[in-house]
Amino acid sequence: MAKNILVIGGVGYIGSHTVLQLLLGGYKTVVVDNLDNASEIAVAKVKELAGYQGNNMTFHKLDLRDKAALEVVFAGTKFDAVIHFAGLKAVGESVQKPLPYFDNNLTGTITLLEVMAAHGCKNLVFSSSATAYGWPKVVPCTEEFPLQAMNPYGRSKLFIEEICRDVHRSDSEWKIILLRYFNPVGAHPSGKIGEDPRGIPNNLMPFVTQVAVGRRPALTVFGTDYSTKDGTVVRDYIHVVDLADGHIAALHKLDDPKVGCEVYNLGTGKGTSVLEMVAAFEKASGKKIPLVKSGRRPGDAEIVYASTEKAERGLNWKARYGIDEMCRDQWNWASKNPYGYESPNSTN
Ligand code: NAD
Ligand code: WQD
Repeated sequence: MAKNILVIGGVGYIGSHTVLQLLLGGYKTVVVDNLDNASEIAVAKVKELAGYQGNNMTFHKLDLRDKAALEVVFAGTKFDAVIHFAGLKAVGESVQKPLPYFDNNLTGTITLLEVMAAHGCKNLVFSSSATAYGWPKVVPCTEEFPLQAMNPYGRSKLFIEEICRDVHRSDSEWKIILLRYFNPVGAHPSGKIGEDPRGIPNNLMPFVTQVAVGRRPALTVFGTDYSTKDGTVVRDYIHVVDLADGHIAALHKLDDPKVGCEVYNLGTGKGTSVLEMVAAFEKASGKKIPLVKSGRRPGDAEIVYASTEKAERGLNWKARYGIDEMCRDQWNWASKNPYGYESPNSTN
């Protein structure tokens, strides 16, 4: 019997890629999203890419904090597990407006946990973040490292992790997998779905992409005086399809009766500097990215990359793609959809 998975925030960047992998893997999915940071076109694209398995997806436009509406979704289907992506994620905005971040991310999660418990579904996969490591003293980051929030967004992730640990302590029927993502980039190789940020992109690769398609004149490099190989910050970039597959691995893990509340890094274990990433993108796209060197961005840690051992052992999962494939697929999506899902001349 196909398993039923509820995917909250499943129209967004990582969610849409995960829903596609779920459908292709034979799962039935119910997707919930308020479309606050996503386009409904992504739902149609995922359905199309999934072929006949696209019929195994239904979509509900609703806000996670709307408990009554969520109850109706749970009343309609018995879910084997929930994957919870929904949240606000712009670090800078969270510093300016902490309360909407805590309201959306914390209230949304608490509402979800209450409704899950009421309907006897106690299997959860949650999107945490490498931001939980703050400025790590050494690398690679293992899951046992001390946690440190650098901003309200990061704090919301730490709070949710703690809430999940407490919920499991209170009731051992809960099985919860907390996935700490490193830096997701790239797109599905079809070029039909990808990241489509609203406004000025906060993250490196969406910004680079918008420079390449002519939407912005140059990339500002935040900090060239770090103690790294070329003076720029080092991160662990991970292909979004690898990340999506990590969620399928986490669902398999939930079948293990020994699972309680566990945390896993999803990264590649490789550190890449800003300038190396730009060079890889230039190679993949054939576009020159003009650079403007600037001061450090407040709050940026110098070097962050994952220890992948625990996920390799515990989830039997390992990232397959490197930065060349990430940049190839990022460019394939962007060149076909220079203005994202709303591109006037989209070739999709
Ligand atoms: P995204 O914004 O593309 O996706 C989140 C989705 O949740 C969006 O479609 C949005 O409309 C939806 N949503 C937000 N609040 C909601 C609510 N109250 N009710 C219903 N839907 C709601 O972001 P993403 O990059 O796909 O990230 C997914 C998750 O992974 C987030 O929780 C994010 O914090 C986490 N994460 C992302 C990154 C990253 O760099 N992209 C890194 C680490 C962790
Ligand atoms: C990478 C590097 C920037 C933009 C963020 C969140 C983290 C997680 C992933 C959700 C840094 C530099 C960037 C630009 C630049 N998200 N940069 N010019 O900061 O590692 O992580 O996204 O959980 O919580 O903080 O990723 O892509 O923003 O930046 O030079 O225009 O690129 O300074 O060194 P980061 P990023």
